[in-house]
Formats: sequence, structure tokens, C-alpha cells
Amino acid sequence: MQVDTRMVVALAAVAEESVDEVVACAVSEGRKTADGVYDGSELDLTRFPRRVYTNGVTALEPLPRVSRWNDLAAYGVNIWIKRDDQLGLVMGGNKTRKLEFAMADALKAGADCVVTAGAVQSNHARLTLAACNVEQLDCYIVLEERVPGSFHSDASGNYYLYRLLGAKNIVVVGTGEAAATMQTLKHELVAQGRSPYIIPGGASDEIGAKGYVRAAQELREQMNALSDTIQFDAVVCASGSAGTHAGMVLGMRGSGVPVIGVSTRFDEAKQQNAVLTLSNKLAHACGAQPVSPSEVQVVDKYVGPGYSLPTRESTQAIEVLARTQGILLDPVYTGKAFAGLLGLIREGHFRPGTNVVFLHTGGSPALFEYQPLTE
Ligand SMILES: Cc1ncc(COP(=O)(O)O)c(C=O)c1O
Repeated sequence: MQVDTRMVVALAAVAEESVDEVVACAVSEGRKTADGVYDGSELDLTRFPRRVYTNGVTALEPLPRVSRWNDLAAYGVNIWIKRDDQLGLVMGGNKTRKLEFAMADALKAGADCVVTAGAVQSNHARLTLAACNVEQLDCYIVLEERVPGSFHSDASGNYYLYRLLGAKNIVVVGTGEAAATMQTLKHELVAQGRSPYIIPGGASDEIGAKGYVRAAQELREQMNALSDTIQFDAVVCASGSAGTHAGMVLGMRGSGVPVIGVSTRFDEAKQQNAVLTLSNKLAHACGAQPVSPSEVQVVDKYVGPGYSLPTRESTQAIEVLARTQGILLDPVYTGKAFAGLLGLIREGHFRPGTNVVFLHTGGSPALFEYQPLTE
């Protein structure tokens, strides 16, 4: 792969500088009640190692124009957005928060390289490559071709960015083969005297998902700051490899604000089980009480024909948000999640006057590969 190494080195140097700068202003948190019971805002994450890849917090903003767009006006729901698409590292998105904990754990374990996996247009792979550049670790990427024929070695979007970031070690496998391939790679690297660290797909384990407990705590502070005038009623996010949804469920616990995950791949039962299982591992790791099934809400009506395949609703959701608010979604995750939110509004799921937060988890680089325009 031809790469301009000067560019990669320059990028790493800039990122490293901002890591050092922002450590000093990391949010302080961690309170435990006298009886030892935690709600999400009281979980102490400061005892876990964390690298800092974002300077400050992401904005919580109202979206008045899309809230009153065409037929939506009749429902009177106020849509807000939490701009995690503006997190640090290359073009932001939810993986940045997860990688803060995953990369810190890799460094603590003494790793000299990272092995991870994702789909062919994986945002997680892009951000893991970026984090590895910052930390000066080699990065091994396993790409799973979930839709037959969807991998193109000249692809744009995230795949172009992998090359720009200097990816040298990319393996493409069939659907369901990523986990085993990562293990094989790990053994090969160990045999070569390396110290690999596996970050699972999406950094969705009890380490990476702490990033979304932290995100929920940040969001709660923002909601509390507005609580004199605004009462928030729900958070809606994309639910894929489950880490974001699981972290949000645990972090929002006790706030009275439910989290609704819009599935981007699996049916409700399978996705609910994945989120619940991970939420419980996370609860255990954070010293919190187990999560009950009723805390995990999944909507599966917006997957359409399958993972990463656009639907009329997701394409319209992407276009509407771009044209009313100038905000880009992505075709694989947030387009479907925002379509889910608009669908819930039209079904009358939220009462008039309700304030609902859409968690924007990023992903817009994939637009350049999928180009979902209807016209
Ligand atoms: C842009 C974007 N949004 C949402 C998700 C889903 O998050 P999670 O995998 O934590 O469920 C992903 C996962 O890859 C993503 O890339």
C-alpha cells in the first residue's frame, strides 16, 4: 500500500499534542452514596485507565427546524442532538469514547500492537487506526464482508481513510469469521515475539463500553444544567455491536430518561439479548447492580433488507437532517437510527411537548462510498 508517511507522522504528532493538552481538563467524576448504591451518575470511572482523545464535551443542541419539518410539526416533539459525531480522532463518532478506555487498557497490558475487526466500511477500524497512530502501536484490521461483494479494494469512504492513515495490515474475511481470524492473527503475532491486544469489533466489551457510561454522565450533567426549563424524556441511539446502547443504559440509570436503541442489524430479541448481556458485564465491571431486561428497549423496524443496506426511510432521514439542520448522518447506523426516531414520533410514541435526544454516533465518512441520494 502506498502511503505518504510524512502525512501520517504529522497527523500523529498533532493528535499526541492534543492528548497531552486535554488530560488536565478531563471531567472529574465518581461519587458513591453512603449505602454503596450507584445510579449511573454515581459510577466512579476514574479508577479505570483512560486516554483522552477529545478536548472537552460534545454539544447538546436543539434541532428546531427538523422538529417542525412538514408533518413532524403536528406531533409537537422537540428533537435534540448530542454531537458525538464531533468527538476527537479522525472525523469523530462513538468509537472515540470507547477507544479512550480500550487503548488505555492495551497500553497498561504492555501491548505493542492492536488487532481489531469491523465491517468493510467500519468506522471503528478508522478510529482504531487513528488511535494506534497516536499511541505509536501497529494496527491489524480484520474486515468482515457482511454483504457478499461489498468489499472493493479501491473503495472510498472509510476504506480510503484506512489507507491515508497508513494501514498496512488489513485482512478481509467472510461474515462471521472475524473473531476466529483475530485469534489466529494474535497467535501468529505472539509467535513472532509481538505483544498483541485484541479490541473486539466496535470495542463493544465491558472495557470500551465504559466510554458510553461516561457519555451518559456527561449528557446528564448537560440535562441537569437545563433542568429549570427543559425536561428530557428519552434518548434514541443506534444499536449495533451493543456497546453504545449498553453503556448508555447503565449511565442513564436513575435519571428517569429511557434509552431506546434502534437496531441496525438484528431482530429485537437478538439485539436485546446482546445489549442486556453486555450491560450486565459492564455493570459487574463497574460494581453496579445487574441490569433487568425492562431497562433495555430495542426497536428493530428500521433495519430494512439488512445491515448497511439503505431503506427509503434512512435515505430520507439523511437528506432531511442535512437540508434542515446542515448535519450529516451516515447510511449504515445513524441514518437508520434517525429514521427510527422519526418513525416513533409519527407513531405517536412521544407526547406533544416531549424533548427527545438523538445521540449522533458519527459515521459520515461512509457517505462517500454509499452515496444514498434518492435524486
Ligand atoms: C457511526 C456508528 N454509529 C453507531 C454504531 C453502533 O454502535 P455500537 O456498535 O456500539 O452498537 C456504530 C458501530 O459501528 C457506528 O459506526
